[in-house]
Amino acid sequence: MIFYFSSTGNCQYVAERIAAATGDRAVSMLDCLKRKALSFPDCEQLGIVVPTYAWGLPDIVDLFLKRVQIRARYAFFVVTYGTTPGNTLYFAETYLRRRFDIAFSLQMPDNFTPWFDLSAPEKVAAQNAAADVRLDAIIRQITARETGHFMQRVPPQFTSLFHKMAYDWLRQTSNLRVEETCIGCGLCAKRCPVHAIEMRGGRPVWVKDKCTMCLGCLHRCPKFAIVYGRSPEHGQYRHP
Ligand SMILES: Cc1cc2nc3c(=O)[nH]c(=O)nc-3n(C[C@H](O)[C@H](O)[C@H](O)COP(=O)(O)O)c2cc1C
Ligand code: SF4
Ligand code: SF4
Repeated sequence: MIFYFSSTGNCQYVAERIAAATGDRAVSMLDCLKRKALSFPDCEQLGIVVPTYAWGLPDIVDLFLKRVQIRARYAFFVVTYGTTPGNTLYFAETYLRRRFDIAFSLQMPDNFTPWFDLSAPEKVAAQNAAADVRLDAIIRQITARETGHFMQRVPPQFTSLFHKMAYDWLRQTSNLRVEETCIGCGLCAKRCPVHAIEMRGGRPVWVKDKCTMCLGCLHRCPKFAIVYGRSPEHGQYRHP
């Protein structure tokens, strides 16, 4: 089984490519949590494919890893990231209570567009093309049942102490607002993984102080009407 969490498609793409190459299934962590399907007693392989959030993991991934019961003969970890995968491997092994046989970081377009610029399509396409080359190599290593940790740009472990503080700051919903161009379609509210948005008077209203901050609402809005920091200058992103 290959479990993934994905907001803008990077991790879903990676999980599905590895699943296709290894004859396995890619399964959404969110669906498992919703269906309370968290027991997998006899798997040939376990794959975890997740994005980096504030040098750590999204809160939904923390929850899944803490709750899932899984026995597998071979376990791999792939974390996607834009600038650094931080301490994601350390957190994942701690919460899952096992070491991965093999672990990789994979650089992909950074969907944290409040800060990072994804407005140039040719630059984004080049980043995804480079990621594809590395993913091919990752798939070869997983298929050959290799072992080892191949994480790049990992900071010292003491920096894991700052993840919660940084993430809690980033994920305040007061950072998000909606512009006049909103047409009230309700897609943002419907797709929010943690039900942090309600439609009131034809406009989205954030009803929780904090959310996962997956930025799915911002990147998938058909009118690009949701704003966080400098996101309007930096473009919308979804993996092709
Ligand atoms: C709230 C948030 C925080 C992020 N923090 C980091 C980070 O600390 N380091 C990094 O390299 N990328 C960071 N990213 C970028 C994502 O990890 C990266 O774009 C990932 O590939 C997105 O995967 P997805 O398309 O499957 O959602 C962050 C993205 C979001 C939304
Ligand atoms: S997805 Fe965009 S246009 Fe639709 S309700 Fe939400 S903010 Fe408005
Ligand atoms: S409110 Fe937007 S950013 Fe926050 S979890 Fe929901 S979809 Fe993601």
